[in-house]
Amino acid sequence: MEQSFIMIKPDGVQRGLIGEIISRFEKKGFYLKGLKMVTVEKSFAEKHYEDLSAKPFFAGLVDYIVSGPVVAMVWEGKGVVLTGRKIIGATNPAESAPGTIRGDYAIVVGRNVIHGSDSVESARKEIALWFPEGISAWQSNAHSWIY
Ligand code: TYD
Repeated sequence: MEQSFIMIKPDGVQRGLIGEIISRFEKKGFYLKGLKMVTVEKSFAEKHYEDLSAKPFFAGLVDYIVSGPVVAMVWEGKGVVLTGRKIIGATNPAESAPGTIRGDYAIVVGRNVIHGSDSVESARKEIALWFPEGISAWQSNAHSWIY
């Protein structure tokens, strides 16, 4: 089944939003398949955001991501990449609809609380980068009640 890489950024951790964010994905019916709190090195953050390396905000983005612990997660479920992006909301919180995570908990693009993979292909790459050790396989007992 489809998987997405979801990360609670340092501001989300500092502001006590871990439980709230996990809860939204959990209540939707997605399965949490991998979870860890880590503080990453600059070179690692640069690798995660390598597609944006030419952007003027790249250096500030990298500084922000390394500024404290993040919560790295793998969520699984039908359409989790696209639906996860909808749950997260638009990149700029000023344009994120109320009811989305960024729409409810963030104000500026440089502190937008959460990352979510933008395609199945980038999810695959990001999960391999953040979870080189792999994730444990398990099947929820709720499965037949969701699908
Ligand atoms: P991007 O991949 O375009 O957005 P998303 O996180 O929604 O997939 O950009 C990555 C992050 O870069 C974004 O979450 C916040 C930061 N960013 C800025 O700081 N300024 C900007 O103008 C943009 C577009 C992004």
